[in-house]
Amino acid sequence: MSDDFESREIDSSRPSAARMYHYYLSGEAVFDVDRVFGERVFEVIPFLDAAAHHNRDFLQRATKFMVAQGIRQFLDIGSGLPTVGNTHEVVRGLAPEARVVYVDNDLEAVARSHDLLAAQRALDTTTVIEADLRLPQLILDHPDTRRLLDFDQPVGLLIVSVWPFVSDSDRPLELMAELRQALPAGSYVGMSHGSISDAPEEIIQQMRALAGLYEDTSDPSTMRSREEFAAFFEGLELVEPCLVYSPDWRPEQPPDLEDPARPCSFAAVGYKSHSGSA
Ligand SMILES: C[S@@+](CC[C@H](N)C(=O)[O-])C[C@H]1O[C@@H](n2cnc3c(N)ncnc32)[C@H](O)[C@@H]1O
Repeated sequence: MSDDFESREIDSSRPSAARMYHYYLSGEAVFDVDRVFGERVFEVIPFLDAAAHHNRDFLQRATKFMVAQGIRQFLDIGSGLPTVGNTHEVVRGLAPEARVVYVDNDLEAVARSHDLLAAQRALDTTTVIEADLRLPQLILDHPDTRRLLDFDQPVGLLIVSVWPFVSDSDRPLELMAELRQALPAGSYVGMSHGSISDAPEEIIQQMRALAGLYEDTSDPSTMRSREEFAAFFEGLELVEPCLVYSPDWRPEQPPDLEDPARPCSFAAVGYKSHSGSA
């Protein structure tokens, strides 16, 4: 996105996934509807803020892991409203020369990300584009993606807690295959997903109720089982510890086994060991 970006109209009449996730993480409601919806959510699932932080922490650990493997260019799809510890900040702290392309289809997320990057004078190495995961080719062909990312070199692809907002009718596995095929050998893919399996029945019911509430937002959500999420990693080799609850993926502190937010999402990082259509 260029410096002359102007946000289009933002829908303040109903909550969006991006604004609600920001609310769970920070407590800041962008619009009144977000606060009202957030209160309904916390009645159903009081520990969702902790689950959101677990997800965000996974994103940061996966990013650090990829930098440690030598990855210097990142495509972060469904990046959300900027908050503490954004991908480019994590990356730049370790590898200042690295490049990051953020993608989101939420105009508030794109506008705020752009404002932050402009204020940080980071737009030469980092950008944000308004695009949709359901149209991967537009993301890959976007001039700003091509300006910052070299698809002859390994890429770190992050799709963290975004697939729940892509319904089965949009054929997410085919979309994932398109993205995977575009990645050169040596690339990594970090993903997480809200979970409705391998959890106590009460939590599964709470996650289902959460998905029900999201019918009232601009981003209805689909919860998937462990096996359904694992299918997104087809053609990739899972990095140890493979597919686990998000807080259990290479934790910096031992996870709290009693934490009800722990089984709310799965996470994994995959490695593309060879190029071609696999
Ligand atoms: C739960 S937030 C996750 C944000 C960030 N990835 C993280 O884990 O901290 C989901 C984000 O995905 C975005 N999103 C949902 N559907 C999308 C789509 N089809 N294309 C692009 N972004 C999408 C939402 O706007 C939101 O910002």
